[in-house]
Amino acid sequence: MEQSFQQVIRNRRSVRKFEPGNAVGREVLERIVDCGRWAPSGANAQCFEFIVVDTPDLRNQVTEVFLRQAQRLVDHAKGFPAVKKTYLANTVAIVIVLGDPRWKVCFPQPTTDGWEAEYRDNNEAIFLCSLGAAIQNIQLGVAAEGLTSAWLSGGGEDITNKELADLLGYPEWMKAYGTIPIGIPAATQDRRYRRPLAQCLHWNGYNPAQFRTHEQVDFFESTLRPFAMYRDRENFQDWEDRTEKLGEWDAAFTSATPNPSGKLQPEADFSAPRTLGQATKRRQKD
Ligand SMILES: Cc1cc2nc3c(=O)[nH]c(=O)nc-3n(C[C@H](O)[C@H](O)[C@H](O)COP(=O)(O)O)c2cc1C
Repeated sequence: MEQSFQQVIRNRRSVRKFEPGNAVGREVLERIVDCGRWAPSGANAQCFEFIVVDTPDLRNQVTEVFLRQAQRLVDHAKGFPAVKKTYLANTVAIVIVLGDPRWKVCFPQPTTDGWEAEYRDNNEAIFLCSLGAAIQNIQLGVAAEGLTSAWLSGGGEDITNKELADLLGYPEWMKAYGTIPIGIPAATQDRRYRRPLAQCLHWNGYNPAQFRTHEQVDFFESTLRPFAMYRDRENFQDWEDRTEKLGEWDAAFTSATPNPSGKLQPEADFSAPRTLGQATKRRQKD
């Protein structure tokens, strides 16, 4: 089925359940990876490598790595919705996108004392954004082939990356920034929560009435997040339990202006969750 570009964008969904027992030809996988090759990258440095795992034995070993990664997440990173990674065993292939940090040397470097902060962070951002563009292109390539994928960032954690490097033979100082399991979806998931366009689109300058307050971020993180991540609905208006789930935050999430007063808040520390809610009740127990 021929899909328009807009349809490919919308059909790209993170699917975590695949039909077992399928295979696709290498020409399909090559077309998918070629989409990653054509991604933009800072200084055209192409700071990526793509490892495609399409043999059942190796795929099962990669799956084992991610089962251990998922268990570590459960044991040591409470509060994050943990997804069973057993579905990786039902993939037709797993693409691992490595970032090669040596290429950061091509991005702007501070040459004058006192300019490290200006350029060092941005150097890292260029590196990560280049990898993100490649990973996204691959995911769109997957969707264009009528297949589905998800983006697993867990491969980039040090322990998991070490296990993947040992298994796949790449230098440990390269990192798996994106692991992309590819498969035939076991269920249609063609919708996912998205903010209303009018809420995130600012015409000709930032509109303070569209600012999401610190408390709104807290509510999403602590309470709404797992539903927003996994439910098969684009709009909260379509949730049968909208009132129960959103409560007093309904207008903030569904209207064009979450912050009608237009009052902005100063920067605050969001390096750790600030409130406890339904999504974080695991933390509460400990
Ligand atoms: C940088 C990044 C890291 C992600 N890491 C994971 C991950 O480790 N595990 C996972 O199941 N999904 C991961 N995702 C997928 C997101 O959860 C997903 O894109 C989001 O919930 C929206 O759903 P959608 O992709 O179906 O639209 C990641 C996405 C991005 C962009």
